[in-house]
Amino acid sequence: MSARQEAILRELNLHPLWRLREGHSAAHPAAEPVPSMPAQLVVAVERVAESAESHAVLENPAEAKAEKPSLADLGWPQLKDLVKNCTACKLRASCTQTVFGVGDEQADWLFVGEGPGEDEDAQGEPFVGHAGKLLDNMLAAIKLKRGDNVYIANIVKCRPPGNREPGADEIAQCLPYLAQQIKLIQPKLIVALGKTAAASLLGRDDALANLRGKPHDYHGIPLIITYHPAYLLRAPLEKAKAWQDFCLAVETIK
Ligand code: URA
Repeated sequence: MSARQEAILRELNLHPLWRLREGHSAAHPAAEPVPSMPAQLVVAVERVAESAESHAVLENPAEAKAEKPSLADLGWPQLKDLVKNCTACKLRASCTQTVFGVGDEQADWLFVGEGPGEDEDAQGEPFVGHAGKLLDNMLAAIKLKRGDNVYIANIVKCRPPGNREPGADEIAQCLPYLAQQIKLIQPKLIVALGKTAAASLLGRDDALANLRGKPHDYHGIPLIITYHPAYLLRAPLEKAKAWQDFCLAVETIK
């Protein structure tokens, strides 16, 4: 039997059926003859052979791997699917579901938070808890509404256990998904909510107080950095600064 046939049978879980019994040799004239393939099996084998190119199995797995589309080529449905099935870091094992993002997929405005909390993990949508209510009010203050020319996403798509900050490794695994979301949305402006979003999008760490107050650049898209709504709930006096940042965002997008 050729190596190719063997590989096909392995793929069909039939490989052991075709192995010669111990003590028998193919060259041995007295060996029990290998049974010929039943007709259905021939058809099945041919089908597998036909789809060999799309199976990362047969003779050249390296070649099959090279054919996988790159993340940068994915449209919305494939990207959503990829995120839904992602197990690239340990966060997926402890969360309920991935939280992809929500809103107008051609929005001018993109708001980026850190990662899902308990409510988001339960509902599958970003910013639906207390911090989300405040974000909705902040959006309303500049005449914006979730889903209407607005997209909301997070740096990581899975809830970190106990709402801890996502680790650098988790961010590194997840950030390419957001990068592709941004590429597909092509927003006119990005607002980073909090330090994790700011540092991840800027690619450098600094105190939020040093980063806010001026537009930054994310691959040619203006990036405004402001406080995370959850922080504003704990430090309401800082809301005045967040309001300034939102006004700067409105001026910048004009
Ligand atoms: N905090 C975030 O950063 N994102 C959410 O989606 C909810 C809370």
